[in-house]
Amino acid sequence: MQHILDELEKRRDQARLGGGEKRIAAQHAKGKLTARERIDLLLDEGSFEEYDMFVEHRCSDFGMENQKFPGDGVVTGWGTINGRLVYVFSKDFTVFGGSLSMTHAQKIVKVQQMAARNGAPVIGLFDAGGARIQEGVDSLAGYADIFMENVMSSGVIPQISVIMGPCAGGDVYSPALTDFIFMVKDTSYMFVTGPDVVKTVTNETVSAEDLGGARVHAGKSGVADGAFENDLEAMTQVRRLVDFLPLSNREKPPVRESYDDAMRDEPSLDTLVPANPNKPYDMKELILKIVDEADFFEIGKDFAKNIITGFARMDGSTVGIVANQPQVLAGVLDIDASRKAARFVRFCDAFGIPIVTLVDVPGFMPGTKQEYGGLIKHGAKLLFAYAEATVPKVTVITRKAYGGAYDVMSSKHLRGDVNYAWPTAEIAVMGAKGAVEIIFRADIGDAEKLAAREAEYKERFANPFVAASRGYIDDVIKPHGTRRRIIRSLKSLKHKVLTNPWKKHDNIPL
Ligand code: HXC
Repeated sequence: MQHILDELEKRRDQARLGGGEKRIAAQHAKGKLTARERIDLLLDEGSFEEYDMFVEHRCSDFGMENQKFPGDGVVTGWGTINGRLVYVFSKDFTVFGGSLSMTHAQKIVKVQQMAARNGAPVIGLFDAGGARIQEGVDSLAGYADIFMENVMSSGVIPQISVIMGPCAGGDVYSPALTDFIFMVKDTSYMFVTGPDVVKTVTNETVSAEDLGGARVHAGKSGVADGAFENDLEAMTQVRRLVDFLPLSNREKPPVRESYDDAMRDEPSLDTLVPANPNKPYDMKELILKIVDEADFFEIGKDFAKNIITGFARMDGSTVGIVANQPQVLAGVLDIDASRKAARFVRFCDAFGIPIVTLVDVPGFMPGTKQEYGGLIKHGAKLLFAYAEATVPKVTVITRKAYGGAYDVMSSKHLRGDVNYAWPTAEIAVMGAKGAVEIIFRADIGDAEKLAAREAEYKERFANPFVAASRGYIDDVIKPHGTRRRIIRSLKSLKHKVLTNPWKKHDNIPL
């Protein structure tokens, strides 16, 4: 018996070596960890249960029958993060550059299906050269099988992708179908076609980093939801994110014991909004001061900074926060901000996470760039997302809520459950200056008259009381009590029941 056990251990040791020590050393030299080292950092110590360690490819073209590595370039299985079940696959770049064969794909599909059945997130760690070139169409079929599972699981279990090396071809489309993509700075990049193909087709010369590095996707394209310094930080932050999320749409978001007083007042908020309506302030200060222990996991931190999205807890329960940021472009809604927030709102709604919306928005961004880019359709995404969401929705207007943007930002009219305004709120069709220049166009040459009109308009509309008098605002609240008022509202909404009419699916303006 002993020799059988020894043989098993020998085979396991061999599988654990992936593509061999030389390639592992090369991986480390690039500042990257191996597939297994990453899993060790991601999961609770000793919790990883590996599947399919002995799977090998079945390709016999191009001499492949003589090049077999147990595991075939991907490590798969399950484990726990702070005691909660997650499934994981981690591409092993040391085996054929992590490229995808049919058997490699089957391993991934197996954990995807188990995760969906058992109601647990899937976390994919990517470091891979795309389709295994020697396998041809079998590899393409394998990718499509993975894509199918991604789509079927969307909205059922959270799916998280972490890009930790080069990712080309099929290895960018699976992440694109998942809920969140994170990248590692300097060592990871994603593109549909690499710099060489770009040069051939468009005659453009561009480096891999400038084409699809972490800074590009986290800051410019918005493909990635965050960029981390290194593998260790990436794994630690994914653990933190998972703590906020329900394991599936079949369970409620997790509740963690809170050591932050739910009734806590925050007197400094009474002076957060400057007297001058054109002066910015930092909306993040408000977020950090009202959520539990100032713990906020931001999604899309470096992209469309004029809107802030992320997860926090209030009295121990997860909430999704959406907030205009007056510090960037005055918090205006443009194409990128609308897309970013719409996707976040839909994630929260799919997984039963209540949404807290903090509003200070001067309207939609004017200009040809925005109109030619389809602002109408992109802005409609956010409107659509808020309107269809049935989770508890609590809104606080701190200052400006102008025009269509007032409607969009979780207003009462889009089934906002509890809508508060600070006394500093200005709820109107537009700002006073723009308004009087339109309705009193004849007075434009007369500065004194115009100033008087502006003062009159401000007096009439630059406040929350007109909206409150119509019941569009449930209460005008003192800023220092905002945390307490939101928490009490969320408690009252705990058993909210609201359903949309039956449909096969909706037709959100894509
Ligand atoms: C088979 C591959 C491979 C692949 C890399 N390798 N990519 N083997 N199929 N797709 C192997 C290499 O032969 C090498 O083997 C090892 O992995 C490491 O690769 P290197 O090139 O030495 O590493 P590096 O210089 O870091 O470059 C990494 C890379 C490059 C940028 C990923 O390898 C590359 O460009 N690969 C091809 C990418 C690609 O075009 N894939 C197909 C995309 S099409 P040894 O034995 O030397 O260690 C696609 C279609 C699906 O994916 C579409 C679905 C929608």
